[in-house]
Amino acid sequence: RKFVQKGGLLLLIPAVYAWYEMIRTEKMKLNPGQLQFIGNSIPQGFSFHDKAIIHRNNENFRVFEPRCTHLGCIINQEIDGEMVCACHGSRFNLNGRPLNGPAVRQLKELEYNYDPVRDILIINL
Ligand code: FES
Repeated sequence: RKFVQKGGLLLLIPAVYAWYEMIRTEKMKLNPGQLQFIGNSIPQGFSFHDKAIIHRNNENFRVFEPRCTHLGCIINQEIDGEMVCACHGSRFNLNGRPLNGPAVRQLKELEYNYDPVRDILIINL
């Protein structure tokens, strides 16, 4: 009988955890021009997404539009700590400034809000 009681309690743990995760990650109301990420799903350093490039340094973020300022290719790779456009090789530093062309204009930086309590990053596109 004790075994059954302990087993019942053990079954509660995943249910409580699932409930906690559901509450923690509950979707905030987003405007059409916003993206939402769970903070712990974002790796340190650069991560490339369809509509945003995120650079994470612990709880500090930089977010850029991934569209290259040369001819509009989507930037989706990092080489030696720089964002690199695969189309014609433009390289951008952590501030989005072009280090070598053909791009000459800076990447557009996107505004965001990070809620450390809920661990949610919301990006304004
Ligand atoms: Fe990116 Fe040309 S479109 S370098």
